[in-house]
Amino acid sequence: MATIGTDIAFAKKLLLNDQVIGLPTETVYGLAGNALHEKSIAKIFSVKNRPSFDPLIAHVDTLDKVHSIVEKFPLPLQKLAAHFWPGPLTLLLPKKSHVPFLLTSGLKKVAVRIPNHPLALELLGSIDFPLAAPSANPFGYVSPTTAKHVNDQLGEKIPYILNGGNCEVGLESTIVGFEDGQVVIHRLGGISLEEIEKIIGPVKRDINESSNPKAPGMLKAHYSPTKKLLIGNIEDLMNAQKNNDYGIISFKQSFLSSNPEREFVLSASGDMHEAAANLFSALRKLDDLDIDLILTELVPENGLGLAINDRLKRAAVS
Ligand code: TXA
Ligand code: MG
Repeated sequence: MATIGTDIAFAKKLLLNDQVIGLPTETVYGLAGNALHEKSIAKIFSVKNRPSFDPLIAHVDTLDKVHSIVEKFPLPLQKLAAHFWPGPLTLLLPKKSHVPFLLTSGLKKVAVRIPNHPLALELLGSIDFPLAAPSANPFGYVSPTTAKHVNDQLGEKIPYILNGGNCEVGLESTIVGFEDGQVVIHRLGGISLEEIEKIIGPVKRDINESSNPKAPGMLKAHYSPTKKLLIGNIEDLMNAQKNNDYGIISFKQSFLSSNPEREFVLSASGDMHEAAANLFSALRKLDDLDIDLILTELVPENGLGLAINDRLKRAAVS
């Protein structure tokens, strides 16, 4: 198992030696390594068992460092960066030639983000290279929102996990690009569509569901627990279960007060941020129980609700 701690100097030392570590961010935990060293990047792909066609996000702590790895920074995206960085926003920008194609899976654009987490920012501030960091889960599984989640699945393969507590946002970053003079959203995440459109007006949505997605986090089956997950009206779903043992993830209402350890209410007060922050932990907890099925319902389709429902629907595809 990995060592879990808050030793920035030790984390830095490992990264300088092309090792990969668990990195807390405000969205989910990342699996981090030197984004400019092919050796580190290759290690990330191998630890995650991630196909090499799925590119990684480069994390930095300052705009100067963003400019050091990108050729161009279209104005509308600069405007978004000014509003949302540090924060759960990833921008696709034309890469400079020294940024390895291994990082971008051969694409000419690199995904860049300034995360909003004190430990991540402190670590990034102590090094002079960006950190490549996909979510620290085996490819296709639910993203981790605690150091323990990372340790449970990848602890045998990495030396260290920086412990930054529970991720506050709990959903991956929103991915935004710029194509043919238009701002395009490729993945819904911790910043809602409404928040983005408030800053720069209507944007195009290109949330990919094909087998050759621009962002494989958009593959239809992704973020999937091992247990079968059914979405619908929870009472109807419960009534339809004769021989199955099930757990429930509901939005506000409790349905299983007789068996609380099998139930997870995302936010009793109906707060979408709280629901988002609890979603992945809930999926992991129920996935670890001795049950056959997870029953769940969609949340209202506004704000972060769109991203929450996106993750639920993908988790339901087996
Ligand atoms: O919140 C997050 O974004 C977390 C934390 C650790 O920062 N990271 C994360 O990384 O979710 P990952 O690798 O699990 O998802 C990143 C997504 C992938 O689906 C990838 O395909 C897409 O970003 N992506 C990365 N570079 C890209 C590029 N150049 N063009 C299009 N999509 C890209
Ligand atoms: Mg991921």
